[in-house]
Amino acid sequence: MALATSSEVPTSRLMFDFRPAPDCPKPEAYRQLRDAAHALTEGESDGVANMANIAALLWDFLPALNWAGFYRMIDGELVLGPFIGRPACIRIPVGYGVCGAAVRDLKTQLVRDVNAFDGHIACDGDTKSELVVPILRSGQAVAVIDLDSPKEARFDQDDASGIESLAELIGPRI
Ligand code: SME
Repeated sequence: MALATSSEVPTSRLMFDFRPAPDCPKPEAYRQLRDAAHALTEGESDGVANMANIAALLWDFLPALNWAGFYRMIDGELVLGPFIGRPACIRIPVGYGVCGAAVRDLKTQLVRDVNAFDGHIACDGDTKSELVVPILRSGQAVAVIDLDSPKEARFDQDDASGIESLAELIGPRI
């Protein structure tokens, strides 16, 4: 029996493998990640489905993570959204932890050593470094992307730029 082409199969039944080549330079990997996120979320109106697929993409694309996912702003506080990793704290007030700082300041938080960040919320004792990028709509934070790593100084400016570009793309889609 011939395989159906993608145009004949509902998107919900397609198999996806978007992983970059192992030796892919970081900025190129982030371009591919953004393209994959665009392809997966374009035309899909369910924000939870879109965040879940993007959490899976982040996990597939980025090495040395122990947590990748979302917190959403709901009634003035951050609430846990779709993620991959160990169970995490559910609600974070604005201004608390790395995530709360990102929505308070509307700025990316690149934390090379979580122990040196005053107020860091430790959901997993293995976490050593963290990157949190706010997702904005009309200048307001509606969510954050949170990445944790068990490696100290795992994230650099290329990671911050790549995730900021992803946040810009998905702002209207979550
Ligand atoms: N470390 C975060 C809390 C969320 S977990 O890392 C999943 C913070 O300080 O805001």
